[in-house]
Amino acid sequence: MSTARELPVVGPALDRVDGPAKTAGQARYPSDFDAPGQAHGALVQSTIAAGRITGIDTSAAEAAPGVLAVFTHLNVPPLPRGPMTGLGVSPPAPLRDDRILHHGQHVALVVAETREQATAAARLVRVGYASVEPVLDLDDPRATTVDDPWGLDSERGDVEAGLAASAVRVEATYTTPDNTNNPLGLFSTLAAWDGDRLTVHDATQWPSMVRETLAHVFGVPETSVRVLSPYLGGGFGAGLRAWPHVILAVHAARELRRPVKLVLTRPQMFTSVGHRPKGVQHVRLGASADGRLLAIEHRGRSLLAAEDDDYEPFAAGSAVAYACPNVLTRDQQVRANVPAPVSMRAPAHAQGGFALESAMDELAQALELDPLELRLRNVADVHPALGLPWTSNALRECYAVGAERFGWSRRPARPRSQRDGHWLVGQAMAGVSYPWYQAPSLARATVTADGHAVVGGSGMDIGTGTYTVLTQLSARLLGLPPERVRLELGDSDLPKAPQAGGSGLTGALGSAVHDACTKLLDAFLDLVRDDPASPLRGSAPEDVLAADGGIRRRDDADRSETYDAILARHGRRELSADGSSTPARPAELGMAPAGAFGAHFVEVKVDEDLGLVRVSRLTTVIDGGRILNEKTARSQIIGGAIGGIGMALFEDTITDPVSGRIANATFGDYLVPVHADIPAMDVTFVGEPDRASPLGTKGVGEVGLVGVAAAIANAVHHATGIRVRSLPITLDALL
Ligand code: MOS
Repeated sequence: MSTARELPVVGPALDRVDGPAKTAGQARYPSDFDAPGQAHGALVQSTIAAGRITGIDTSAAEAAPGVLAVFTHLNVPPLPRGPMTGLGVSPPAPLRDDRILHHGQHVALVVAETREQATAAARLVRVGYASVEPVLDLDDPRATTVDDPWGLDSERGDVEAGLAASAVRVEATYTTPDNTNNPLGLFSTLAAWDGDRLTVHDATQWPSMVRETLAHVFGVPETSVRVLSPYLGGGFGAGLRAWPHVILAVHAARELRRPVKLVLTRPQMFTSVGHRPKGVQHVRLGASADGRLLAIEHRGRSLLAAEDDDYEPFAAGSAVAYACPNVLTRDQQVRANVPAPVSMRAPAHAQGGFALESAMDELAQALELDPLELRLRNVADVHPALGLPWTSNALRECYAVGAERFGWSRRPARPRSQRDGHWLVGQAMAGVSYPWYQAPSLARATVTADGHAVVGGSGMDIGTGTYTVLTQLSARLLGLPPERVRLELGDSDLPKAPQAGGSGLTGALGSAVHDACTKLLDAFLDLVRDDPASPLRGSAPEDVLAADGGIRRRDDADRSETYDAILARHGRRELSADGSSTPARPAELGMAPAGAFGAHFVEVKVDEDLGLVRVSRLTTVIDGGRILNEKTARSQIIGGAIGGIGMALFEDTITDPVSGRIANATFGDYLVPVHADIPAMDVTFVGEPDRASPLGTKGVGEVGLVGVAAAIANAVHHATGIRVRSLPITLDALL
């Protein structure tokens, strides 16, 4: 039998199998779908951040051309809140009552014959408000707080004693702003009821979760709901929840007995589908004179919506980042009148890594020790909390290979000691990990009489390469050329797979695909076991491998048979097998499942007169376990690192401190990096297949982002001597 263990450690760089369809405009994104007889929705959103609706006058809107209905809290019955689904916390139901909890809250949905009519009529809805002063700030004394929401706070040893015993201590406060996920594709929902059956084309990273939510909210069996999202124009976490606008579109379609399509506008994307919430972090580190960490204390506070539960535990990652005997991590969420946050690429770790890896640079400076050397002296060679060996860990190799490729040894120790004309030049680094995350998954593999395979699960390709890597994997396991394998994803009717999130889908769905392909070969062997006409008769799974469109004996290449020949002789049109995967348990493994590790080395140039920061070089080395496709994996790391550059230098969702209105909710005003901001990036993979799964993969998505902002801030310090502890690093901090 061919197994995943026989796959190469770094898989071939197959071009994206969905690339031609995407570049030719043939790939249909959620908003590209239409249904016969569909109506169109447009949202009306609150213009205050806190208070009550005193009255809604919908008469002008209802009289406008083409308008079919206006839904408000006055005519929408109380809808149940969606269920907890895995990590997915459902937002509160929409249009519940007259309370306003944030600026941009949906207060009405206008449905009309055309999108233009709905949009025009939405402007005619008159809403009266009684406004109260909103809570918008972390330090507002009126705010309520939630301590340790996910039970991730941790403590080992005695931090105060560790600090007291330390020869060198640093202590600093770091702040990160609100960032907005901003996938390019506008989120949309097309909902169509046929009796009690519901079909929804939705912009989601998690079709099975949307199905479960809609079945729960609308009181129909899950088998009556189908959620489709074969392609998605990006998500970055925004597609990990069934948002209120999705519920509203489905409700309107049921009431009107017509399909309803609702496409958010770009400004609505800033308030309706989550964001990375702002926060403050306080870090204290202590070390011996020779640079051994004796204490890490990391406390984080971040904003949470008034009635929502999507938490960001900033500090949790610091519990396992380094070998250190005394560690304390504490997270607190502060409720405010802000739109609901959501995971945004490397949630919590993006912010937490900025604080910890900045503080490590400050500690290196205080110790007068090379920052890379400081990390090397504190590598956690076993899991620092569990004391178990890692299932894989090539962090030391990440450091060594990165330092070599970057030319770290040529870096002068003293800050502000290099210049290139009017540019001050600096180099710095960060060492990171992204935790292991895995969820159960199902998959199915089928070989048809024409010698093709169809492999699928309800997981997504959100632009990350799932179609491609699973095509490669299936082709390899079934002994077929990739062009004879078709992947089916993004459909909740397919075997249930988890979210495209947490950098965990390839491992989860890939392991289920591995299982399905293995069982499919078994099924073929069962067919020919007693078949006198088959050269494979009597073969056991370990006697054969998949090759050349069929199965052949390992000990005799001439004893082989193609799938189509077997199926034809047995009068079968196809043969299928179901596979599954379940996450490994640390106790059973006797090891600590490892996430991905990485090291980022960055060079920046800072204009001495203008304060302008340019990233001039970036070298990233990642231990992602087995890499299924070198090209798509590299693309993930490059994309992640660009997200880190955006976080470090550009991205900032600005909320007016009085009204609670987002002041830059457009792509013109919300800055993200463009090509001219991005240097050539050097990305290398190191490491071994991970031992937590037969597939051996680890997540290669979010680890590309974690720590990049710290590496840039550290490099800015090395260039200028100025320590910036607040993101984004704008020129005013450097003048
Ligand atoms: Mo990612 S924030 O898990 O989509």
